[in-house]
Amino acid sequence: MLVHAITNASYEFAADVRAGLDRPGQKELPSKYLYDDVGSALFEVISHLPEYGLTRADERLLQRHAGEIVERLDAPVAVAELGSGSGKKTRWILEALSRWQRTFYYPVEISRSALVMCERELSDIDSISIVGFEREYLDGLLEVAAHRQRNQHLFVLFLGSTIGNFDRPAGVKFLAEVRRILEPGDSLLLGTDLEKPSAQLLKAYDDEIGVTAAFNLNLLARINRELDADFDLSQFVHVARINHEARSVEMHLESRRRQTVRIPAADLRVEFMEGETIWTESSHKYSSEEVFQMARAAGFSCEAQWIDEQWPFAENLLVAE
Ligand code: AVJ
Repeated sequence: MLVHAITNASYEFAADVRAGLDRPGQKELPSKYLYDDVGSALFEVISHLPEYGLTRADERLLQRHAGEIVERLDAPVAVAELGSGSGKKTRWILEALSRWQRTFYYPVEISRSALVMCERELSDIDSISIVGFEREYLDGLLEVAAHRQRNQHLFVLFLGSTIGNFDRPAGVKFLAEVRRILEPGDSLLLGTDLEKPSAQLLKAYDDEIGVTAAFNLNLLARINRELDADFDLSQFVHVARINHEARSVEMHLESRRRQTVRIPAADLRVEFMEGETIWTESSHKYSSEEVFQMARAAGFSCEAQWIDEQWPFAENLLVAE
């Protein structure tokens, strides 16, 4: 048996796995655990798949409109990014800003490998200072806000439709929490994936060569690695489903048969029925109009919106009221 050091992080992981699997009704796991080093690398591959146009739409919009976006800001600004990923799409914004000012950039990211990649990717930009925070979003943003200089506005980036992982009420609540950390006149650039036909969404979340399936199954492999569990990965299948009521795509892992799994580090034995699923992620899809209402409900006003025609996706500029 493998023996792991018990760290705070693995203690929390064990507690969340226990809370999600040891319960009656729908089993679920928090989607943030999809992003260990393997999961982050697999998501990077997903973003290149022909079926998954979301990341490329986000990049196109930022590349095309970075100049207009930064012209609308009240300079000087410090940039904080919630979930920087590789940093590739942030380049356009930082380069546009650096034409006007020396730019401080604070990526906030739970994945250390993504943080290192992003620092490396962006360090060549002229007159930029990068300080990364390996933190949860709101903790990291609080820290950035505590370091802000008087006269400096904060410009927060929350790209890639990560907000879609929250259900609608939780999404607005998260935006309101961000707003509470900000001052009037600070701004938030929010990326939102827009509604599209079910068939197209199902292909995007269940691609032909199985990268998304691997991304999802890696969560069970991670529980095996970090919590000494004995999930047999060949006995679970990746499933993508449309939830019409929630207007989301859900990812599940479905048990092929009746089986029992042991997770010693979470002090747990879990029984699965044939066909029973673990719900691992939701990606909510929005209408372009509803973003204005969400912004208002959270204490922002949406002052501009840019939409990609090729893959309906919106970049929204929210200003704190
Ligand atoms: C990175 C959360 C925006 O929900 O579309 C991609 C993650 N999951 N394929 C999304 C994801 C399956 C992605 N986000």
